[in-house]
Amino acid sequence: MDIIDYYKWRYATKKFNPDKKIPISDIELIKESIRLAPTSYGLQLFKVIIIENQLKKEALRKFSYNQSQVSDASHLFIFCNSTKVFEKDIDLYIENKSVSQKIPIEENKGYGDFLKKTLLNKSSEEISEWTKNQIYIALTHLMTTCASLKIDSCPIEGFDTSKYNEFLNINKKNLSAGVVAAIGYRSESDDSQHNKKVRKSFKDIFEVD
Ligand SMILES: Cc1cc2nc3c(=O)[nH]c(=O)nc-3n(C[C@H](O)[C@H](O)[C@H](O)COP(=O)(O)O)c2cc1C
Repeated sequence: MDIIDYYKWRYATKKFNPDKKIPISDIELIKESIRLAPTSYGLQLFKVIIIENQLKKEALRKFSYNQSQVSDASHLFIFCNSTKVFEKDIDLYIENKSVSQKIPIEENKGYGDFLKKTLLNKSSEEISEWTKNQIYIALTHLMTTCASLKIDSCPIEGFDTSKYNEFLNINKKNLSAGVVAAIGYRSESDDSQHNKKVRKSFKDIFEVD
């Protein structure tokens, strides 16, 4: 299968088989694909909370308009974006960059100062909007990796953010639940797997100048 076949194979799964669990080796591959996702300035200002506990999935379903995918999927990946940037976030990045690229830390100091000047004065709203955009890139890494492993997924925005944040106790960590991926294996009785894709034509999407 080539990459386009994966995109055609995947669909927003409406009904998961609750008895089929994703092996840990595949979960590790999915995690690595998220870790490798690009982010603005490379700062990776998000956390992903992985839920496999059945009681927790059932509790979260209540805050997700009762969507069955939330409790029936094998795992939930909850992408939580940062709502604030701290000096330590930038210092950690500069340290990581210096170690990873074997560059003396003093040589990266100017870049760190630039990032601090650019980001530390921004409001929580500005930071949240900016970081939330970036978790969707990581989400697409997850979905494509899942498809390549024949794992089904459903991206989910239909949930109550404040209830999720409260349940996950993440406000105090300056995080907010932005988007969820329910992943697992489709139920044979999920009729939506047979639906034709509904997409605009090329000419309605692309303009070539
Ligand atoms: C950001 C985002 C949020 C979505 N939220 C939900 C959701 O809460 N529940 C759901 O069943 N599908 C959700 N979807 C799935 C879309 O409805 C679906 O991807 C779209 O109709 C195209 O169909 P396909 O993914 O099967 O090709 C969401 C998709 C995206 C990208």
